[in-house]
Amino acid sequence: MLKIDRLYAGYNDVPVLRDLSLEVKPEQIVAVLGANGAGKTTLMNTLSGLLKPASGVVTFEGQPIQGLQPEKIVSLGISHVPQGRRIFPGLTVQENLLVARTAETKKRPGGFNAILQEVHELFPRLKERETQLGWSLSGGEQQMLAVSRALVARPKLILLDEPSLGLAPLIFEAMFSAILEIKRREKTTFLVVEQNAEQAMRIADYVYVMELGQIVAQGTPDEISRDPAIEKAYLGA
Ligand SMILES: Nc1ncnc2c1ncn2[C@@H]1O[C@H](COP(=O)(O)OP(=O)(O)OP(=O)(O)O)[C@@H](O)[C@H]1O
Ligand SMILES: [Mg+2]
Repeated sequence: MLKIDRLYAGYNDVPVLRDLSLEVKPEQIVAVLGANGAGKTTLMNTLSGLLKPASGVVTFEGQPIQGLQPEKIVSLGISHVPQGRRIFPGLTVQENLLVARTAETKKRPGGFNAILQEVHELFPRLKERETQLGWSLSGGEQQMLAVSRALVARPKLILLDEPSLGLAPLIFEAMFSAILEIKRREKTTFLVVEQNAEQAMRIADYVYVMELGQIVAQGTPDEISRDPAIEKAYLGA
C-alpha cells in the first residue's frame, strides 16, 4: 500500500533520513520505533508532504507521492496525526471535527454525521465534551480528538506520531483499543511512531526500528522482541 524506497530527507543542510526504505501492507498496523531524535517525526512529515525529501521514492497505492502538497496527499487517502496533538484550542470539540471535513467526508453514506456517530462510539468522552473548548481538554482527550479529526477525512492510511506520549496507562489502553477498533471497522491501515516500544508491539503486525535516520532492524513484534538491535537503538549506542 505504502512503499518507501531509499528516502533521504532533512532540514537545510542537516541530513536526517538516510537511505530509508520500508513498506506498509494494506490493513496492517506498522510501528516505527526509535529513540528521541532518530528521525521518526521527520519521516512522518515527509510522508504527509510537510517536508520535501532530498531524494527517494514514496509510492501510495502504486502512485508516486513524494514532494506532493499536503492537501493532495490527504485527498489521496493519507491522514497525519502530528506529534503534540495539533487541535484548535479556541474551537469546541465539535468545531474541531467540522473543520476537518474534506471531499471524502461527504462521499461517505451519512456524511459527516455518520462519522461523528462513529467517533462518539469510539470515544464516548468526546460526546460528553462536545461543546467544550479544545484548550480545556485533558491531554488524553486532546489526543482522542486529534485521532478523530484524522478519521473525518475517511483515510485509507493514518500516520500516527506518538499517540501514547504523555498519556496515563488507562488512557493509552483506550487509545490503542480504539486504533484496533478503527482497523477492524474501517479496514484502515496505520503507520505508528512510538517510543513506547512495549505498547506498540502489542498492536503492531510489523515493526521497524530506527536509529540515526536509518532502519536498523525489522520484523514481526515476536522477532523484534528477541533482537538485540532494539536494545542498542534504545540505549542510543
Ligand atoms: N525543523 C527542524 N530544523 C532543523 N532540524 C530539525 C528540525 N526538526 C527536527 N530536526 C532535527 O532532526 C533530527 C530528527 O528529529 P525528529 O523530530 O524527526 O526525531 P524523532 O525521532 O521524532 O524524535 P522524538 O522521539 O523526540 O519525537 C533531530 O536531530 C532534530 O534536531
Ligand atoms: Mg518525534
